[in-house]
Amino acid sequence: MNIHTLDKYAKSLIKEAAERIRFSFSSELIIDSKSEANDLVTNIDKETEQFFIQHIKENFPDHRIFGEEGFGDDIQDLNGYVWLLDPIDGTMNFIHQKKNFAISLGIYKDGVGLLGYIYNVMEDDLLSAALDEGAFFNDVRVPKLVPSKIEQSVIGVNASWVVPNKYLEHDGMIKLMQTVRGTRSYGSAAIEISYVVMGKLDAYMSMRLSPWDIAGGMVIAKEVGAVVTNLSNESINLLEQNTFIIAKPILHKELLDNYICLK
Ligand code: IPD
Ligand code: CA
Ligand code: CA
Repeated sequence: MNIHTLDKYAKSLIKEAAERIRFSFSSELIIDSKSEANDLVTNIDKETEQFFIQHIKENFPDHRIFGEEGFGDDIQDLNGYVWLLDPIDGTMNFIHQKKNFAISLGIYKDGVGLLGYIYNVMEDDLLSAALDEGAFFNDVRVPKLVPSKIEQSVIGVNASWVVPNKYLEHDGMIKLMQTVRGTRSYGSAAIEISYVVMGKLDAYMSMRLSPWDIAGGMVIAKEVGAVVTNLSNESINLLEQNTFIIAKPILHKELLDNYICLK
């Protein structure tokens, strides 16, 4: 399989899916909850995943799909070609804001990330990468990341980790808030990862992300020298949920050594 042919195909599929999502604003959304009341899904999340699956299966019948909405394959390993897809990352933003959501896609072969995509649907911005070929933002090469001092850093973090919570010692997070230049929270893991890749954020962390939230971003992150691990500084397992941090190299170590302490 030629990686450039696959890349071209994946990009055209993403653009077509996005067009359908934008068009969907003309009809009423059907909104449901999943694991809890605020874990939202819409008919458009489901239809978009089905759209990808139908086209991927038609063109690449031996490829498997690991999708958030469960219409793909039952994935227990990453053997062969696997597409890890979040049809809409940031569904709450999709529903409430009609912006700040993304299609997140990673294409892996035997567990190795070959292609990664984060497509900000309403901005028509595509961040993409192919293994060892660099990262591109709308076809313009993204430079490698340069180190930043923690005092001059802006970190993507959710405010709920700064109050007492079951995952983290919040004292460390308070110290972090008092040290960094600023914090931001955008409500889409994929968009937050894309901002670290492009140097708009210096780090982003989360307590629980799924493989489809991060698979595309991980391929892209590697190309610009961003460090991605779980919050115990271990490699990410793309078959399960993980804690997650992406950061510039020196900052990654500093955050894990001095500020982030899991319970
Ligand atoms: C969610 C978003 C959110 C993150 C959640 C994810 P979804 O994905 O990425 O920013 O904090 O953990 O589940 O449900 O909108 O696809
Ligand atoms: Ca998601
Ligand atoms: Ca989603």
